[in-house]
Amino acid sequence: MSKKVAMDDIVSLCKRRGFIYQGSEVYGGLAGTWDYGPLGVQLKRHIMDLWWKTFVDNRDDMYGVDAAILMNQKVWQASGHVDTFNDPLIEDVETKRRYRLDHLLEDNGVNPEGMTLEQMAKTIQDKDIRSPDGNELGNARQFNMMFETKIGPMADTIAINLSRDNIEKLYEKGGDFTSYLTSENVDKTGPHVVFLRPETAQGIFTNYKNIVDSFYPDLPFGIAQMGKAFRNEISPRDFVFRSREFEQMEVEYFVHPDNWQEQFEQWRTDIKSFLSQLGLPEDSVHEHEVPEDDRAHYSERTIDFMFDYPHKSDELLGLAYRTDFDLKNIQDHSGKSMEYIVKGGGERFIPHVIEPSFGVERAIMAVLVSAFTQDEVNGEARNYLKLPTHLAPYRVAVSPLLKNKEELVKKAREVYDLLKKEFGNVAWDDNGNIGKRYRRQDEIGTPHCVVIDFDTIEKDGTVTVRNRDTTEQERVSIDELTQKLN
Ligand code: GAP
Repeated sequence: MSKKVAMDDIVSLCKRRGFIYQGSEVYGGLAGTWDYGPLGVQLKRHIMDLWWKTFVDNRDDMYGVDAAILMNQKVWQASGHVDTFNDPLIEDVETKRRYRLDHLLEDNGVNPEGMTLEQMAKTIQDKDIRSPDGNELGNARQFNMMFETKIGPMADTIAINLSRDNIEKLYEKGGDFTSYLTSENVDKTGPHVVFLRPETAQGIFTNYKNIVDSFYPDLPFGIAQMGKAFRNEISPRDFVFRSREFEQMEVEYFVHPDNWQEQFEQWRTDIKSFLSQLGLPEDSVHEHEVPEDDRAHYSERTIDFMFDYPHKSDELLGLAYRTDFDLKNIQDHSGKSMEYIVKGGGERFIPHVIEPSFGVERAIMAVLVSAFTQDEVNGEARNYLKLPTHLAPYRVAVSPLLKNKEELVKKAREVYDLLKKEFGNVAWDDNGNIGKRYRRQDEIGTPHCVVIDFDTIEKDGTVTVRNRDTTEQERVSIDELTQKLN
């Protein structure tokens, strides 16, 4: 059984120690947005770097891309997001507050899996489920989660479709375009509307042909991307778990349709191995075979990897078999062939796709929950983060025993510089007494603390190295320090 960690413990540690703050907090916040502080940035970078190293750098069948967040509107029409990227919404008739209909059902003990919008709405009525404020709920409807914005200088006024003929007339009139603001010239849904990408995947699919043309890789091969995604979540909640702005790490793995099952199984194994590198205990991760009715519109098979979060066991990442859905749609909408031609002029076909899709915020939360540990040291309760060394914000902290002894500080600075050169992420900590420093570093997950004391400068040139997990201390000579910490 995995241990129970309270959400409040994680949220308060994140704020207090500079991992994660509420977005725009100084102005009262903006729901569903979060800012990363100095330690959060480090942790997040380490997770993302590990992912990139594991799935891109360490393999020879993978190509990285970094596509633009703003993409041609046709991308989201072809992908099906304009028509189907919806969540069910219901409104409190009194307060006008909006809620995720399926979440309200779950909160009232009803499992909404497999239910249509109408079935969910009927259950609300039949069971007389009220809003969290105790009010009646109105009509249910689908809500598209894509954020929309406008592009170009016409955006703040209106977009006008000017024909070449009209443009010439406009110049004749000295540039006065107001006479052309007729309904036939005004294009309300025109190309000036763009969406903030709700998944990084489409930036991969739209570059599939570029990668094939530039590199002509053998199948199977993958294209990887990590970066921001945006979803207008009806009710963001559970800390960073459901945010409106978040990061994804996605691979689209292109395979021959005949052997997608084999590749799917391989990804299942590779995902589990990555999760163990994140330090997640095996018994806190559960695979959920998503039933057909609940799968995304593009998927013929999905396994959700669930993690035991403090709020409940919930989706950490998804592994989907997207068939040729995306490339086929791009081919149909763009008129450009997405066929792969096997080298030597062999078989031609549109590859099928296996997609492991990781959410960075959900990985961060899972890492923090897994690492959060409570024990007792010398009769006192202690909270600490038992983070894997490769994820810890700081690899090691360096302290002079006393901060007002110049000779100790000088030597400690030398040791700090040495370690900084080796590891980069090294903390200088001379605040408060040694006990307080250890507690602080334990709480942010620093695996080792190095202390320079009078023995270092007067006796044998050794320093104290203290282990976060065991709290044991040993003396190590400065010459052997980097080796010891490696
Ligand atoms: N390209 C496939 C795709 O986007 P998804 O299941 O909608 O599939 C993939 O999202 C992953 O992105 C999820 O498993 C989760 O880790 C993360 N994710 C999705 N919505 C999120 C949100 N609102 N906040 C934080 N992470 C989210």
